[in-house]
Amino acid sequence: MKTILATTATALVLSAGVFSPAVANEAAIKARQSLMQLYAFNLGQLGAMAKGTMEYDSGAAQAAADNLLAAASMNQMAMWPEGSDNVAMAGKTAALPEIWTTFPKITESSQALVAAAESMASVAGNDLDSLRGAMGEIGKSCGGCHKSFRASND
Ligand code: HEC
Repeated sequence: MKTILATTATALVLSAGVFSPAVANEAAIKARQSLMQLYAFNLGQLGAMAKGTMEYDSGAAQAAADNLLAAASMNQMAMWPEGSDNVAMAGKTAALPEIWTTFPKITESSQALVAAAESMASVAGNDLDSLRGAMGEIGKSCGGCHKSFRASND
């Protein structure tokens, strides 16, 4: 009987550790921050080519644009659980509570990025001028969402 109780208690402690909302939220925060890093990595390559600090390469440009579009097209619902804002999870995230209090407004920003990434993916491999022409909309969609929904770190 003692053993059973002890085992049950251990199981409870373990499950509380693994499934408590705070821990689940931390995993979701990590996932969405990693997704943002993927955005930044691929956009960084396109931006470097646009600026001329990296030589334009049609295949590399197309790959970066395709990756950005694929990443932006992921279903992110599970990565943004309620209660994972920068008030409830201070120090862990820069996500503002407005994401949830004004929901589904943020989905407009997500859709704007998908649209901009589609335009980029349709021309990035053509030539440098086309890539440059598609940069503005992408920058606007990243910046627009950050302005409304991400805490500034200054
Ligand atoms: C739909 C809204 C939205 C869009 C679109 C968006 N971001 Fe973000 N981004 C956020 C939010 C919110 C955070 C804060 C996430 C957190 O800390 O939990 C963030 C965080 C980041 C971070 C920091 C990640 C980290 O490791 O903490 C980077 C880098 C970033 N975004 C880059 C980009 C780039 C590049 C684009 C455009 C290609 C982009 N984002 C588009 C909302 C967005």
